[in-house]
Amino acid sequence: MSSTGKTPKACVIGWPVAHSRSPLIHRFWLERLRIAGTYELAAVTPADFPDFVRGLAQHGFVGGNVTLPHKQMAFASCDALTETAARLKAVNTLWIEAGKLWGDNTDAAGFLGALDQDAPKWDADPGTALVLGAGGAARAIVHALQLRKTKRILLSNRTRARAIALASEFGVEVVDFGDLPGAMEGAALLVNTTSLGMRGQPPLTIDITPLPASAVVSDIVYVPLETPLLEAARARGLRTVSGIGMLLHQAVPGFTRWFGATPSVTAELRGLAEADIRAAA
Ligand code: ATR
Repeated sequence: MSSTGKTPKACVIGWPVAHSRSPLIHRFWLERLRIAGTYELAAVTPADFPDFVRGLAQHGFVGGNVTLPHKQMAFASCDALTETAARLKAVNTLWIEAGKLWGDNTDAAGFLGALDQDAPKWDADPGTALVLGAGGAARAIVHALQLRKTKRILLSNRTRARAIALASEFGVEVVDFGDLPGAMEGAALLVNTTSLGMRGQPPLTIDITPLPASAVVSDIVYVPLETPLLEAARARGLRTVSGIGMLLHQAVPGFTRWFGATPSVTAELRGLAEADIRAAA
């Protein structure tokens, strides 16, 4: 029960939203933790989004997740932001606190949670990280790497101007696609944040041979569960972190805020999410 005595109700707001795997994750935790809450899909058009979030409490929600295409509009709609949301200029988690609409961005925490779980001690000597892409996901990951004091962050993107803009905002370096082999030689971590390798998209065609044997390779893509990049890394014996971990871990802070208990990303939950992704393929 929430402080108002009602069953707490949360949602994921998107357009379209039917594909979202957030209900699977949050309903699993509600059941396992025996919490009498609900988690719903909220299909809300961009035109209706501002009114919907302003009326979140009136609709009976304690908060919710925000997915495409609303993350920037959610950022603009909040009364208060966490430091991370302010830095990333995008919000994926909302809650109401003392009558105010709060926004957080949990993608950075999700990325770190996945790395910590799947590649323990990856940041013992964080060295150089090479990040491919310069969109919203790259922003979250560069921020996450800076939170963990990564010494050097190199950013590479098809559209160089986007890489330069992001790199200057976060104080990191840009590497041309053509110079990736050299950049890989000293990299402790390679992260793909582009949509390459996703089902229906072209594969990411880079030769990872120059990566050191101790390198960790992470891909935020989770459909398919193992992208050609991760397959190549695993074949080389490198440690790999698939995008499914980030998807599951980014859900933890929202659940904790709305329902008052910290859930775990267990093998059982991961198995369920993986089965759901396989079934949809
Ligand atoms: P997100 O918010 O998920 O990061 P995005 O802002 O659309 O999504 O960014 C997608 C990323 O994938 C970008 O870095 C994009 O490169 P551009 O900035 O050059 O568009 C990258 N990307 C998408 N398709 C690509 C392709 N065919 N080749 C190389 N990079 C691609």
